[in-house]
Amino acid sequence: MTDAPDAKHDSTAAAEQAPREPPSPAPRAPLPPASDAVRAEWGRRIEAEYRSAAITQHLTLWLIQMGASPDLIDDGLRIVKDELAHARLSHRVHARAGGGALPALRRETLGLKGGDEPLEMAVARAGVEVFCLGETVAVPLFKVLREGCTVPVARRALDRILRDEVRHRDFGWTLLRYLLELPCAPAVRQLVERELHAMFARLRRSYMPPGGAKRATISDDDRVWGLMPVARYGEILERAIERDYAPRFGEHGIDAAAAWRRAASAPDRAAAPT
Ligand SMILES: [Fe+2]
Ligand SMILES: [Fe+2]
Repeated sequence: MTDAPDAKHDSTAAAEQAPREPPSPAPRAPLPPASDAVRAEWGRRIEAEYRSAAITQHLTLWLIQMGASPDLIDDGLRIVKDELAHARLSHRVHARAGGGALPALRRETLGLKGGDEPLEMAVARAGVEVFCLGETVAVPLFKVLREGCTVPVARRALDRILRDEVRHRDFGWTLLRYLLELPCAPAVRQLVERELHAMFARLRRSYMPPGGAKRATISDDDRVWGLMPVARYGEILERAIERDYAPRFGEHGIDAAAAWRRAASAPDRAAAPT
């Protein structure tokens, strides 16, 4: 369909004369200026997506070694591909924002470390921390990031990421349920009850850094590129305790609210004098 006024008069002649180009899109509005903060944040996101891909690949290998159900393994493999798509989309945003060369990936962070414990325990530890905790809060975080984002290339990235994170979150809770149905379920439960507060403490250090609550504003230009103030991360995490973690862990008789209180009252090692 075209809205050119004379298109129907002589379409054959027009087709012969006109170069065969796709219809030109509406003129693109100039992009808002991208700050160093925008470039740094999208650069960081690229690395985070690579890390998510590597960790999920590793976790999925462990699931194969455990003889887990093919459905669960398929879900894991699909997530690896999602994370690589997120990395590609994030890289596009970084480039459009004028970002240049990126620092080398910290390879030692791109994978999981198994210990002397049975594989099921290593899977439980990684599954709970990365998926039940990390991917669950990622859903409301990306929802808010996306709400204020209007730069098309960034919005496209956040649209895809938000859509996928819902499935990644669900993978974590499906995995926990699966582990709690195995013969090793009592040991899995003990591990989660013993370590959940430390996992929350690490999540707090990521999303609620010292002084972060005071950093409550950013510029409109940064906002439209898909950033939000540090303080919002902490608020969203706190809300997730009540909305997501407490009920979801509660289904398995695990008290997430108590683990969170313990994490919140522990001295912050990051802020301790050295
Ligand atoms: Fe991702
Ligand atoms: Fe994800």
